[in-house]
Amino acid sequence: MTRKILVTSALPYANGPIHLGHLVEYIQTDIWVRFQRLQGNECHYVCADDAHGTPIMLKAREYNTSPEELIERMGREHRQDFAGFHIAFDNYYTTHSEENRQYAELIYERLREAGTIDKQTITQAYDPKMGMFLPDRYIRGNCPRCGAGDQHGDNCEACGASYSPDELRNPVSVISGEAPVERESEHYFFRLQDFEAMLRDWADAEQLQEEMANKLREWFEEGLRPWDISRDEPYFGFEIPNAPGKYFYVWLDAPIGYMASFRNLCEREGIDFDDYWNPDSDAELYHFIGKDIIYFHALFWPAMLHGAGFRKPTGIRAHGFLTVDGQKMSKSRGTFIMASTYLRHLNPEYLRYYFAAKLTSGVEDLDLNLDDFAQRVNSDLVGKLVNIASRCAGFISKRFDGQLGPTLDTPELFRKFTQQGEPIAELYERGEYARVVREIMDLADEANQYIDEQKPWVLAKQDGQDDKVQAICTMGINLFRVLMIYLKPVLPRVAEDAEAFLNVEDQDWDDARSPLLDHTINRFQPLVTRIERETIDAMVEESRQTLAQAEAESPSSHLDNNPIAETIDYADFAKVDLRVARIDRAREVEGADKLLELTLDLGGDVRTVFAGVRTAYDPERLEGRLTVMVANMAPRKMKFGTSEGMVLAAGPGGEDIFLLEPDEGAEPGMRVQ
Ligand code: MSP
Ligand code: ZN
Repeated sequence: MTRKILVTSALPYANGPIHLGHLVEYIQTDIWVRFQRLQGNECHYVCADDAHGTPIMLKAREYNTSPEELIERMGREHRQDFAGFHIAFDNYYTTHSEENRQYAELIYERLREAGTIDKQTITQAYDPKMGMFLPDRYIRGNCPRCGAGDQHGDNCEACGASYSPDELRNPVSVISGEAPVERESEHYFFRLQDFEAMLRDWADAEQLQEEMANKLREWFEEGLRPWDISRDEPYFGFEIPNAPGKYFYVWLDAPIGYMASFRNLCEREGIDFDDYWNPDSDAELYHFIGKDIIYFHALFWPAMLHGAGFRKPTGIRAHGFLTVDGQKMSKSRGTFIMASTYLRHLNPEYLRYYFAAKLTSGVEDLDLNLDDFAQRVNSDLVGKLVNIASRCAGFISKRFDGQLGPTLDTPELFRKFTQQGEPIAELYERGEYARVVREIMDLADEANQYIDEQKPWVLAKQDGQDDKVQAICTMGINLFRVLMIYLKPVLPRVAEDAEAFLNVEDQDWDDARSPLLDHTINRFQPLVTRIERETIDAMVEESRQTLAQAEAESPSSHLDNNPIAETIDYADFAKVDLRVARIDRAREVEGADKLLELTLDLGGDVRTVFAGVRTAYDPERLEGRLTVMVANMAPRKMKFGTSEGMVLAAGPGGEDIFLLEPDEGAEPGMRVQ
């Protein structure tokens, strides 16, 4: 029977780039979706950017743009990154959509009518200068225990104390630097506690991961509390109906974004939305998420759905966090690797394979060990898998004109391979990809061993052994084909290339059962190449460079923990020596696709400056033009040379970077005041 399945991955925030940590999730989900489709199930996969909330609003301000423009641009980048890793979404949407507004309002109205929304006045920190309430993470101050400065509102990094934000001494808003004041405001709360019995039943009925079930039990024990679902303006989100100046908290409309993205897909493709979302739906609904957002998905979300008369999820699949070389991803070490950086250096399927080889159905963290990564890909994919085909293909094309023989040399071995189809499918279904990969690689070892024993290269030199050589190589190619079908969810492009080599159309799971005989295949091309350690090093180095540079160029690019507008006094300002400079020469910098090397003339004094303006300017367009630079920057050593100053530019980035230019009459070397 064909199953109807709707699958989602968590919606990435639209205020930052996709990195390898995120990809654990999207790759894990994509493998599962591709597996379901390969099995012939009807499987829809939707996602979207999570576009609302305070950080996005502030980031847009910082870039002097509107939140709408910012999320538009991030959405484009995210789509590109996901496409680069072959993530096969049916729809990638945004939570800032009409569909999402409609469903958010509908669900809220139904919850309100059911009496599950309360109003309550609360006191909160308020930034008088910015005119906004401050989420805890935007307040810093001295630790109440040890006095260390610049600590978060909830725990001290110096002494480890935990406390509540109002205990922080000398608190300041990280946005304005002002001391926050207390202010009252009326908030809307969702009565989560009303749903405890229902949630307990739901959790018992669904086969939740052990760790998740335990977590839920703990939370039930602690008691469920009302959930604050409103935020005051200014806020980027949806205004709550009949509540001027109040907005839905981003986490209210974020999961509703799953529905909205699916709705949008339904309109486009004529799928019956209600068939998937009505309370008696026979369709399955799975959410793949990271372990950090279980509370939202396993408590709030099913409660909201239930309260509003929709179906609940069939399952929630949580995964752990990615570490690189055993440690948290780090910008200074270069192990905070963005998807786009990875793609400039390495094949996306290497990472898909490596993650698959490490993923289980549990929520443990997983480590990307860079040495192990290279070794694993080289030994498994190049050394074992592709090797099977490359050892046999030559004989078939040279001696038999590409023709596979009429029979298999060892049908029992082939049968063994096909019989593994079912247990492997079972492992995919349960998300036990590491075991899938192990099973497949064990079979690959057997295939290679078979070829080692048969020694077609020896027989090929003997007379009268042609049929035997053809049968052995036909066998080898067929074993390879079965394994390629099994790996298709993990390695979609390699599988496609293998299909081109095998001269077969898009294969399904069940195609593995019948061998290819009396069939002409194409000339073999290497399907996967080795990873060299230098390539990985170059990627790490680029990650370090670009992120260190981003940080240097925009102190507030890491908004989450840096003040946006720390005030400086006149003396600070007077220290900056701003000068008019003529761009004598502009050149691209090999290996840095955001940088231009500028040779600047300050009226006799010549400087070299590396400026991150390449995405916006052709070098030729710059030569001869005047700009403004900081002439007394301390020289900074970079990978490509030493940068002896900074040019001033404005804009959100990408193609929109505008070099500041002085008015007519300016001369190189003039002081700018
Ligand atoms: N916007 C929310 C999700 C809303 S879903 C209705 C969010 N966004 S996120 O961008 O921070 O994370 C998106 C997903 O990526 C989450 O499931 C998160 O757990 C996962 N990961 C983010 N960083 C990760 C690692 N370093 N490692 C593994 N997964 C990670 O949360
Ligand atoms: Zn402390």
